[in-house]
Amino acid sequence: MSIHVSLGDRSYPVHFQSLRTLPERMAERGLRPNDSSRCLLVSDENVAAHYRSPVTTALENAGWTVRPHIVAPGEASKSYEPLRAIYDEALRWGIDRGTPVVALGGGVVGDLAGFAAATLLRGLPLVQCPTSLLAQVDASVGGKTAVNHPTGKNLIGAFYQPHLVCADPDTLDTLPMREWTSGSAEMVKHALIGSPELLSFLEDHLVGVLARKDREAFTTAIERAVRIKAEVVAEDERESGRRAILNFGHTFAHAIEKVAGYGAFTHGEAVAVGMRAALHLSHRRHPEALNRDRLDAVVQAIPVEGDPGALNPGALFEAMQADKKNRGDTVRFVLLRSLGDAYLTGDVSEHELREAWRFACSEPHASRP
Ligand code: GLY
Repeated sequence: MSIHVSLGDRSYPVHFQSLRTLPERMAERGLRPNDSSRCLLVSDENVAAHYRSPVTTALENAGWTVRPHIVAPGEASKSYEPLRAIYDEALRWGIDRGTPVVALGGGVVGDLAGFAAATLLRGLPLVQCPTSLLAQVDASVGGKTAVNHPTGKNLIGAFYQPHLVCADPDTLDTLPMREWTSGSAEMVKHALIGSPELLSFLEDHLVGVLARKDREAFTTAIERAVRIKAEVVAEDERESGRRAILNFGHTFAHAIEKVAGYGAFTHGEAVAVGMRAALHLSHRRHPEALNRDRLDAVVQAIPVEGDPGALNPGALFEAMQADKKNRGDTVRFVLLRSLGDAYLTGDVSEHELREAWRFACSEPHASRP
């Protein structure tokens, strides 16, 4: 099963296939061992423990000389020193412009290795092999790469599309359950902003998907979610307009992550809480067109560890204001006109924000299956 991301001469496939097929999928995109035959494999310690060996073996059997570069797991690796370590290793080893960078891991590895690929020798071929749900349904598709800066997240980066994405559904089996439910928030987000059909499908299979029990259902849901992401990216690669709808729930989420301290809530948990606030704001404006309680029931089913209601609303609104500097001086929200029809607005009062926040914290999310 494959999905095509349509971006002219930067188009690429997203394959849902075993990582053992990676060398063939790379060869189809013109990535074959050349004179040097070097291939840089970036991963983190957790993912490498499971998949470094089979991926390296597959690549070596196809004639590649693989140099693994393993980083510590977690957000701290998305920063300048780990990036420089990749530059140092790659340049000392002797890469050339045909050397592929294979990013094997979740969102952190994809962003870090992706930015290294974008900048080394003015651009090396990038192969995204996402192993987390969040990376498979969202981060690996669309070419956003970045590292963090002490003043904020993702501030040093580039839009740099991969040559291909190879998402192996089997890698999700080893994902910690909290990461799984966190990733499911982005899947629900894609349904809310782009697909009433996917939302109905998720409603019908919610328990089996959130518990990672119904393989057929979650595989279908992932593929459909990626299709929506691919469509949005194809329309607006560099986020000059429509792509911003992928930030549904994210204005609150970024503030939640910042105020709670990064890592207290997973990104997906913060997005789930943020989506409840965004649903409330949307319903306030479009009460006839939007069944808030129906949609909220799906979002509320996503488990969130910790109590967002314990966060100080004033600090959250301040964090949103501070963040606006990075986005042209307006705090922007993505709202829904109706299910599957999202738009961007800067016109939300503090009174509405407070009300939306109260709604988002009004009832606890489901507990972890
Ligand atoms: N994750 C949001 C985007 O790719 O634009």
